[in-house]
Amino acid sequence: MIDTNIFDKEIKRSGTSCIKWDFMTGGADPEKLLPFSIADSDWKTVPEVIDVLQERVAHGIFGYSAPGRGYYEALAHWYRQRHQVDLKKEWIVPTAGVVPSISLAVMLFTGQDDGVILQPPVYDPFYSVIEANHRKILCNDLKLTEEGYQMDYQDLEEKLRSGAKMLILCNPHNPVGRVWRREELEACAALCERYDAILVSDEIHGDLGLCRNAYFSVGRLEKYRDRMIICTAPSKTFNIAGLGVSNIIIPDERLRSAYSSWLQARYQTGSNLLGMLACQTAYEKGADWVDAELRYLSENYLFLREYFERRIPSGKVADLEGTYLAWIDFTSLKKSSDALCSLFSEKGVIVNSGAHYGANYDGFIRLNFACPRGQLERGLSAIETAVKEEVR
Ligand SMILES: Cc1ncc(COP(=O)(O)O)c(C=O)c1O
Repeated sequence: MIDTNIFDKEIKRSGTSCIKWDFMTGGADPEKLLPFSIADSDWKTVPEVIDVLQERVAHGIFGYSAPGRGYYEALAHWYRQRHQVDLKKEWIVPTAGVVPSISLAVMLFTGQDDGVILQPPVYDPFYSVIEANHRKILCNDLKLTEEGYQMDYQDLEEKLRSGAKMLILCNPHNPVGRVWRREELEACAALCERYDAILVSDEIHGDLGLCRNAYFSVGRLEKYRDRMIICTAPSKTFNIAGLGVSNIIIPDERLRSAYSSWLQARYQTGSNLLGMLACQTAYEKGADWVDAELRYLSENYLFLREYFERRIPSGKVADLEGTYLAWIDFTSLKKSSDALCSLFSEKGVIVNSGAHYGANYDGFIRLNFACPRGQLERGLSAIETAVKEEVR
């Protein structure tokens, strides 16, 4: 069993063209900077991935490359072993990022001004890809209930009935941290079938079910495979987002061939050499490392939650089942999300503004806790001080 202490080590990331540590610094004093923003982790990837990349870099030839049989087998094995999804090699379309891949699905499978449904609060680039393709954003807001965030099926059905052509799911959901259950996904898929809409399921956080919550991929819903596009990537799980690699699973031959033909016609050959190599090795050799990472992340979440309950009760942390992104309701402070971000950045802490995830979420923040516990503790303590000074 891998020791979770490996995740405690603080590693300097500033000066590495790192968005979190070099660019999204909100004017904070570099000496005090504690960023908890963009969704990557502050620890090194799987040692075997580092070894394989080092070997390939030493080889020194970086010519045209393509994924081989081992690449597809590694991915299929991972999904079978960890998520009980039986992927066929030919369903997998390697691409260079989930967001551009969703954008392409919107462009290819909906028409100008068609409605595309999102479930706010939700990952903000979903809005931009719909707008950039000149489609209409239809918001099927999640409902906050005693049992946490839930989907509103009645509203979803109305939107589909009114002619929406696509639903973009976030599974697990960024930022509210829900890991959708089989019944919830089945209900969405059945509605998409009834109204002949495409179901895009962004499962980039799929490996990150925390506190023993297991993610359920829509790929397991065989009955609805003719209308689904599943977006996966090793980037969050193994912290290799900078290597630009993702895999889009399209079981239906007709949809897949439209998607692949578009890419081929434009010479878009998918991911790059180092990204492919890292992806294959991570899926082949990273299982124990991911188990240790999940233990560490679950402990970080419980630590954060307890910290808020005991020392920052004005911030309510949503029940989290997956992802490493805490969704925190600070509306009791009666401040906008941007004002909260400024307040915290004065103490060096950078978080994401809740308002970016949906119009109704001003006063919320999102906090990425995929970092060494010591760093998390210093960040929480700085937030606590900022809040105490504010309400004094
Ligand atoms: C739900 C979700 N989808 C996609 C992405 C980004 O994917 P990519 O970098 O592969 O475009 C993120 C990153 O935070 C995310 O949270």
